[in-house]
Amino acid sequence: MERTLTPEFEIEFKLLLEAINLKYSYDFRHYSPASLKRRVIQAMNRMGCHSVSMLQEKVLHNSESFYDLIQFITIPVSEMFRDPHYFLSLRESVIPILKTYPSLKLWVAGCSTGEEVYSLAIMLLEEDLLDRTIVYATDINPRSLAKAENGIFRTEDIQKYSQNYLKAGGKQSLADYYTASSGSVKFHNALKKNITFANHSLATDSVFSETHLISCRNVLIYFDRELQNRAFGLLQESLCRKCFLGLGSKETIQFSQHAKYFDPFIKSDRIYQKN
Ligand SMILES: C[S@@+](CC[C@H](N)C(=O)[O-])C[C@H]1O[C@@H](n2cnc3c(N)ncnc32)[C@H](O)[C@@H]1O
Repeated sequence: MERTLTPEFEIEFKLLLEAINLKYSYDFRHYSPASLKRRVIQAMNRMGCHSVSMLQEKVLHNSESFYDLIQFITIPVSEMFRDPHYFLSLRESVIPILKTYPSLKLWVAGCSTGEEVYSLAIMLLEEDLLDRTIVYATDINPRSLAKAENGIFRTEDIQKYSQNYLKAGGKQSLADYYTASSGSVKFHNALKKNITFANHSLATDSVFSETHLISCRNVLIYFDRELQNRAFGLLQESLCRKCFLGLGSKETIQFSQHAKYFDPFIKSDRIYQKN
């Protein structure tokens, strides 16, 4: 991290973000700087660049290098039924209300490689809601979206996911939903028949169609206060009245200028209801 201490690094870092915005329309200028700088330094080390300017040159002239860089910047880390109690609360307290609607729209914003959206699809299936739900799964990282669409996950993670699934109130066995082959498992295509995977940025794109549940977990934590406000505004406007927003365990809407539009629904699981 010593490199971040130099004034030159700070200048080059700002220029890199400007250059990315101008060339690719990806706006990282309002991400939390400390974490973003760490990621850029990691990328420099792994991509063989001894300065940020060298990294900039690479990503400006080669789009594959840009997508290599956003692998570092976007933190494509996820888990099925991550924080199982969140999913248990959705199942026990939110789903019964959603069941009163004739059709549903669910938005998983920042879906990464798909673990969260398959978890929700399994829950909706078990609650007889999947057929009448349209699910939008969005992210800014096209490589993550492609993985999400494939629905293939590593066998070594499945034991943890199975335990999470049961803690989250799963009614069967997770193995009922995938086919195993060597080193990986593929979740059944039926789970994704109502899922649309799409590139959408909470930093630059606009409001979604009226949704009943938005799960946006472990994304806003990487944004500064200004960008969080933008994103919360977008999430708020994309939700129907009395519908639900779920955040990650370290995230809160409390300090946002949009907090007034929400009431805590299950505070400990960061589930809010639009008022
Ligand atoms: C740590 S992952 C969280 C994945 C999943 N939601 C979970 O909780 O397991 C953060 C995700 O947010 C996505 N992301 C980052 N900036 C974004 C933006 N501006 N708009 C939408 N998604 C974004 C990243 O690409 C990454 O896939």
